[in-house]
Amino acid sequence: MANRSSEISGYYKLNVEERLELLGTFSNLTQEELEVLRMHGSLSMELADKLIENVVSTFEIPVGIAPNFRINGKDYLIPMAIEEASVVAACSNAARIARSAGGFVSESTEPIMIGQIQIVKYDSLEDLKKTILEHENEILKLANTRSKTLSSLGAGARGIEIRTLDDPQRSVVVHLLIDVRDAMGANVVNSMCETVAPYLEEITGCRTNLRILSNLTPHRVSRSRAIFKKDLIGGEEVVDNIISAYHMANVDPFRAATHNKGIMNGIDAVLLATLNDWRSAEANAHTYHVLTGNFSLTKYSKTPEGDLLGEIEIPIAVGTVGGSTNTVKKAAIYRKVLGIENSREFANVLAAVGLAQNFAAVRALSSEGIQKGHMSLHARSLAASVGAQNEEIDLVSDTMVKNGTISMSKAKELLEDIRKRTNK
Ligand code: MEV
Repeated sequence: MANRSSEISGYYKLNVEERLELLGTFSNLTQEELEVLRMHGSLSMELADKLIENVVSTFEIPVGIAPNFRINGKDYLIPMAIEEASVVAACSNAARIARSAGGFVSESTEPIMIGQIQIVKYDSLEDLKKTILEHENEILKLANTRSKTLSSLGAGARGIEIRTLDDPQRSVVVHLLIDVRDAMGANVVNSMCETVAPYLEEITGCRTNLRILSNLTPHRVSRSRAIFKKDLIGGEEVVDNIISAYHMANVDPFRAATHNKGIMNGIDAVLLATLNDWRSAEANAHTYHVLTGNFSLTKYSKTPEGDLLGEIEIPIAVGTVGGSTNTVKKAAIYRKVLGIENSREFANVLAAVGLAQNFAAVRALSSEGIQKGHMSLHARSLAASVGAQNEEIDLVSDTMVKNGTISMSKAKELLEDIRKRTNK
């Protein structure tokens, strides 16, 4: 084992079975473990092998449904793919509370993405800017040759911005502002940037370096709000505590990271179920405070009646065309379950889910604490993970919660006890 090497030339040329065998040898996998990797559910190995490189298997994550969502007067069942216990329950519960005051009201701006082209080494900043601005129409026209579809929809590249950075070479960055309609937009934005870059070099005589979309989308932003009635959430004291928790998250980066992580628990789970790029959503959300000055993506205040008003403002770039959603059957089915018609409606739903998830977490933290509810659900997943079946899961998890020791080793011990007693 000590001298095994991970340098494998042509791994990509092997078929899935050959790759698996090599992996098994390298990682000392048993035949049983290899059999598990051969299971692929509804995503065939052939299709998986086309989606990414060096495929050896597929991966399953539980998918739960969060009911109770009413957003802009329409009812939704939200599919959520996530490994963390209590997220789906918390989200559903928050949606039920919001529903009693009419549900969520969401809106999203136009789907404008930014493509960046970095220009380095120039003589006169003024001349450079002037030349670029003089050629704006040509630049946009050239960019729009990359997408007949967007052009035919009256969308595509719409304008440019020029920024100067404080990096050591004082880079100038040209932003292409591109209306991508119902696409997430990464491919079309990148293609437009790569098409325009040589033209920029030609007209400016300067070298371009990076040509890539920005995952920060301040022009593509979603907002959602909901009222959570005080009587349903533990009274006015809880309302005050939630507002105070929000104020802390808004100024303290250490709390904001956790507060906003709670928001992404919900949003990522929907993105994963529908096979959308949740990494870009994370990057987008967690960088947004640089532009707004607010660490917290949500905001809480009290209504004149003493209820809690929750609001979220979050940049969201998601598509309903392109990407893997339409290729992978289960993702397509979950999207059908979601019942969204276009990327804006999708973003509206995601913003509401993010707000619901955040409200649920901050409410628990501001009242009984997160561990009580969280740990009893965690206890169930621990019980299942040590092999408990059916009613054994309840027996093991209830006993762990009652005794206050929730761990893998305790779950194992209790399961062994139960089986001894029932002679299994
Ligand atoms: C856990 O996944 C998410 C929370 O930590 C979020 C929060 O603290 O607001 C509960």
